Amino acid sequence: MSRALLRWYDENARVMPWRIGPEARQKGTRPDPYCVWLSEVMLQQTTVAAVRDYFRRFTARWPTVDALAAAEDAEVMAEWAGLGYYARARNLLKCARAVVADHGGRFPETAGALRALPGVGPYTAAAVAAIAFDEPATVVDGNVERVMARLFAVATPLPAAKPELTLLAGRLTPRDRPGDHAQAMMDLGATICTPRNPACGICPLSAACRARAQGTATELPAKTPKPAKPTRRGIAFVGIRSDGAALLETRPGRGLLGGMLGWPGGDWAASPPDTEPPSDGNWQRAGEARHTFTHFHLLLEVRAARLPQGTIARQGAFVPREAFRPGDLPTVMRKALDVALGAFATVEGTDDPH
Ligand code: ADE
Repeated sequence: MSRALLRWYDENARVMPWRIGPEARQKGTRPDPYCVWLSEVMLQQTTVAAVRDYFRRFTARWPTVDALAAAEDAEVMAEWAGLGYYARARNLLKCARAVVADHGGRFPETAGALRALPGVGPYTAAAVAAIAFDEPATVVDGNVERVMARLFAVATPLPAAKPELTLLAGRLTPRDRPGDHAQAMMDLGATICTPRNPACGICPLSAACRARAQGTATELPAKTPKPAKPTRRGIAFVGIRSDGAALLETRPGRGLLGGMLGWPGGDWAASPPDTEPPSDGNWQRAGEARHTFTHFHLLLEVRAARLPQGTIARQGAFVPREAFRPGDLPTVMRKALDVALGAFATVEGTDDPH
């Protein structure tokens, strides 16, 4: 099966900015462990398509782990904005600094040693060990779980099936070309063995696939229903001064949006206590921004104000217009800005007063 998969990968490997394709790899080109690590951390957030631009911007700005380790925290958090899971960006920096401080700027070469780095879990450790160093580590992400559940017709629902699927993936991992094998599995899951409409007719593993034989491929993997997400409520005060400066705060280092830039406001809770605005001013309800996090939905009431010059900030600080890029905000805070700008435009009759 592994041979059939590698033959398929040799012809069909997707081109990615961090990837050394099978042909170059056979000729001896090695991937840069820094690029492999960075891409794998980013890919845990979102799709390959969404990661490309983030990866290009990061590596253009910080081409090596030494460069990243020396970066300002706020700049890295700003580049990460929009990817979500901001604890991961904080750990990214911690990890880069540990690689420089404790390993002379070279990534350790085994999954076991990689695992000891800050923020590196079993998936990232296995992926980097396999892809960058060709260790026959077992790499299991959601794609691989789906392929295994179908190939071996595992009826146990996720997440209970994880240990079994990991064991099966381990048995398929070859000693020869384990890095290409790991990437082939992921490509197969992303392009052929897709969740809803698997292309079994062109799958290199279809002859061996039990779910295909049983006609159950689209039903697998089974999933235990997740409990419904609760809703939390909060307030965001979007204050823009007449010179365009934005009243923002850097959120405390820990927690959901820790270290990120955001609009002042109180805690988020099932029913939020009313929160004092961060400055005097004509604060008006502008509407609601909605955002879904891993464990809850957030309904953010947006209160907006055009603030006069000389306004004193009681919370946060004014960021000058030329230093404020909306793209530096996490997605939920950008949504709040859009709601406020929409309200300003309605009141003032312009498209974008900011
Ligand atoms: N998804 C996560 N990591 C990947 C990789 N290395 N190749 C393809 N898809 C991926």
